[in-house]
Amino acid sequence: MSSTIRIPDGFVEELKARIRPSDVIGRKVKLKKQGKEWVGLSPFTNEKSPSFYVNDQKRIFKDFSSGIGGDVISFVMETERLSFMEAVEKLAEEAGMQLPKATAQDEAAYDRMQRLRECCEAACTFFEDRLRAAEGSEARTYLEGRGLGAAAWARHRLGYAPDDWRTTIEHLKSRSFGMQEILDAGLAVQKEGGGEPYDRFRGRVIFPITDARGQVIAFGGRGLQPDAKPKYLNSNDTDLFHKGRVLYRYKAAREAFGDTDEGGLIVCEGYMDAIALAEAGFGHAVAPLGTALTEEQLSLLWRAGPEPVLCFDGDAAGLRAAYRSIERALPHLQPGRSLFFCLLSGGMDPDDLIRQSGPEAMRTALEHSLPLVEVLWRRERDAEAIDTPERQAGLETRLMSAAAMIQNGSVRAAYERDLKSRMRDYLWQRRQAKRAASGSGQRGEAAQKGAPQTSTPPMTRGLGLLVRAVESPHLIDIALETLSMATFPDPDVAAIRDVLISLPEADKGVDRGTIRDHLVSRGNTRAADLLETYPEIPEIAPDGPEEREWLIALEQYVAREESGPYGLAGAGDEVTSSPESWRRLHHEVSERKARAARLNEAAEQVDRD
Ligand code: UTP
Ligand code: MN
Repeated sequence: MSSTIRIPDGFVEELKARIRPSDVIGRKVKLKKQGKEWVGLSPFTNEKSPSFYVNDQKRIFKDFSSGIGGDVISFVMETERLSFMEAVEKLAEEAGMQLPKATAQDEAAYDRMQRLRECCEAACTFFEDRLRAAEGSEARTYLEGRGLGAAAWARHRLGYAPDDWRTTIEHLKSRSFGMQEILDAGLAVQKEGGGEPYDRFRGRVIFPITDARGQVIAFGGRGLQPDAKPKYLNSNDTDLFHKGRVLYRYKAAREAFGDTDEGGLIVCEGYMDAIALAEAGFGHAVAPLGTALTEEQLSLLWRAGPEPVLCFDGDAAGLRAAYRSIERALPHLQPGRSLFFCLLSGGMDPDDLIRQSGPEAMRTALEHSLPLVEVLWRRERDAEAIDTPERQAGLETRLMSAAAMIQNGSVRAAYERDLKSRMRDYLWQRRQAKRAASGSGQRGEAAQKGAPQTSTPPMTRGLGLLVRAVESPHLIDIALETLSMATFPDPDVAAIRDVLISLPEADKGVDRGTIRDHLVSRGNTRAADLLETYPEIPEIAPDGPEEREWLIALEQYVAREESGPYGLAGAGDEVTSSPESWRRLHHEVSERKARAARLNEAAEQVDRD
């Protein structure tokens, strides 16, 4: 429940009517008058030509580069990262409007909340003292054992709750808090049907939980023994604290985030992870409180930055948690606003990783975060077998219904395109792999003559691609560069490629025989054999989808940065490349086509002359 006084109906309308949007927005964005509207450069993207509009008549703004739009209040919320209430308060002050006087009832409620907050604050200080007192020695040893010294205790206001039944209650009473207040603040427990209340937190290391303004509203407590049950205990939900609406370290993280150029906050699973991250230099780390991310928490995250990174253990449970977050996030995706996933391997959490391999390892892991669409794709791809047309259609249905959850039209359309093309590419690659596997039997015999047979998977990977290029020479034309950069595991396959790209006339058409002769003349009979015994394959037409698929498959042989030193989960051996490499590839292809077209034109011109 918000502690602030409720704004009466009509106040916000009145406020908006009094403020001219271009006055407020014009302070952030340089605006030029254009007809009835004002135009400027988007404050949300770094666009070069203006597509940000303000309309004073309609009292709205619209930013076409990011898709963000709204009224003056949402503008202030977005650009100054304020809550609705905070933005209204700020604008009301500017407009000279008095925030309404509270009713007596409001005031009583407000006072009560203020008391509960004071009670939490008093408890927090008490726990901090206890950590430093004699009775805190075991807790101190525990924290030090986890790499947290006195400076870190102070930074995170860590404490210790004495291992007694009523010490905390007695302390708070001595500070003039009543039993009901102590119960309402979540610091004491009363068994149903009465009974004397007792301290909720006993013999635990204490992590205070604050609201967005930094005021303590609840606590988490970790047992000192490895077998403590439960390991972590949180305050119950109270009038101050709703665990689904709060993120641990949110205020501190937003402040730290202001100094970074990251895309968003880092979200990890627990208190210790958030602290370990902060201590390792990732001050913009937060954690939910032992539950899956809620929509409210997502909106807190997006209020801080457009692309938060969610860290999960890359095991099955971590993946499930990632999937749940996807479900929550899909409906709310916006242009430029998404989630990234950092899947750690080996059952490690950020705390483990940082302690074992240092902050740099964590940074590397974060840099290898996967975009939401990639994790969504993997989820559906791996959900069921896709070995029959019916099952493949099932995959498509699942992908499209996931995309259908996205409310924003342009993001939804982009997802549909992206997911469909991932599916096409993947199925094509599967077919290729199958063909290669069944083809290797025949070629195995040929290979046996020359080299000793190994038990490793087909050593002639890439051969089929090259044969296709021989059969459809326009492929050589458009992929000469990629071909020359490709690395093939088998040296004889590489030799075929070498001949292929060294023949000046190859892109005009050569047959297998010509290339075989070249190979033989170089003394490479095995390569010649490989080429000759490869089964007949149909030609690939220029400009068709198969051509594109061929290029994509070829791209897999171009060495590129490996999946990161920590073997990030899922970045396995199958051939899905990164969005960057797709983009590069598409760019490359269209460049080449344009170049070829220009050359042709020039040649025709010469012919005519
Ligand atoms: P984990 O069990 O993964 O622990 O709980 P952790 O964060 O790695 O803790 P350490 O390193 O063993 O100290 C992750 C989060 O789930 C919530 C807490 O918020 C915790 O930080 N949790 C866990 C609970 O609320 N209750 C529990 O009993 C356990
Ligand atoms: Mn841990």
